[in-house]
Amino acid sequence: MGFRKKTIRDIEITGKIVLVRVDYNVPMKDGKITEDMRITASFPTIQYLLEQGAKKVVLISHMGRPDGEVKPEFSLAPVAERLSALLPDRPVAFCEQTVGSTVAASVAALPEGGVLLLENLRFSPDEEANNEDFARAIVMSTGAELFVQDGFAVIHRAHASTDAIAKLLPAVSGFLVENEVSKLEGAMSNPEHPLVVLIGGAKVEDKTPMIEQFLPIADQILVGGKIAADGYAATDPKIYVAEDFALDEEGKKLDIGDKATEYIVNAVRGAKTVVWNGTMGMTEDERFAKGSRAVAEAMGSLLDATTIVGGGDTAGYVESLVKQDGNNLQFSLISTGGGASLELLSGKKLPGFEVLQDA
Ligand code: 3PG
Repeated sequence: MGFRKKTIRDIEITGKIVLVRVDYNVPMKDGKITEDMRITASFPTIQYLLEQGAKKVVLISHMGRPDGEVKPEFSLAPVAERLSALLPDRPVAFCEQTVGSTVAASVAALPEGGVLLLENLRFSPDEEANNEDFARAIVMSTGAELFVQDGFAVIHRAHASTDAIAKLLPAVSGFLVENEVSKLEGAMSNPEHPLVVLIGGAKVEDKTPMIEQFLPIADQILVGGKIAADGYAATDPKIYVAEDFALDEEGKKLDIGDKATEYIVNAVRGAKTVVWNGTMGMTEDERFAKGSRAVAEAMGSLLDATTIVGGGDTAGYVESLVKQDGNNLQFSLISTGGGASLELLSGKKLPGFEVLQDA
């Protein structure tokens, strides 16, 4: 089955001002970006649009949860700086507004072939309210003629920049959304077997829908992390729950133990498809990251399998391992979206995806 939505390959781009919804909600510490995976992940789409002769590319995003108020600590200005450093051959500009005459002036001042990033959409309460007037104001101020959704991490939200706006312009998928949705849906609808699903993390209520979704199709579901430590009870013989744990001084179970690690690693080694969501332990502390590291290494060393890492903490941890020298780990997909990938893997429809034009 082909991709269900139109993409930027299917639409005329030349000479157009293109509005691209990206998700540049990147982790920051003391005003500095600590991980830029979501920024670089948007480059294939931006480069393609410009190569195809887009007149100008206007990027829109949120950052954090400022709750409809202008809060400087949630400004996208540092992201614009990083963008500019990463795209040295392109004019990159930043506009401190999201709508209005300042935006129009910034678009006008941008040289052809340039990229403009607007300020945090969530500085306005209209963004999360999915306000159509706000979406229309973005379109009018930017002069956009085409909308591209490439913010995979935010397509589970029905906001002005993911839903309302897609009803005002021809709306198609960018390459990041295409890649992530295809791989995640592929693992659910047409997986090569054995399909092994690894579930970890802290909140059982977040993961139960995913377990239920995969139960009919997976060969094995392996549960670790805090969920297992808290006593998750298997409801099916296909489900294995870790039983031994690594403890801290106070006896808290903060990682899966050696036996569980060995069991899970063996299952991963025999798999043709592995889908992983939720760390096996408290990876922030190296002492309790052993289980997750062993799982990541087993998965990232598989030569002939589809290996998918759901977004959020798991992806952040796996990405940090991939970047370590000499690790040579490879994955089919390390998702940029935590909530979005979990919802998709739980069988839910993503509003920011469904609203795009059908192929
Ligand atoms: C994320 O980080 O998961 C996305 O950027 C969505 O952010 P949100 O959960 O605040 O909507």
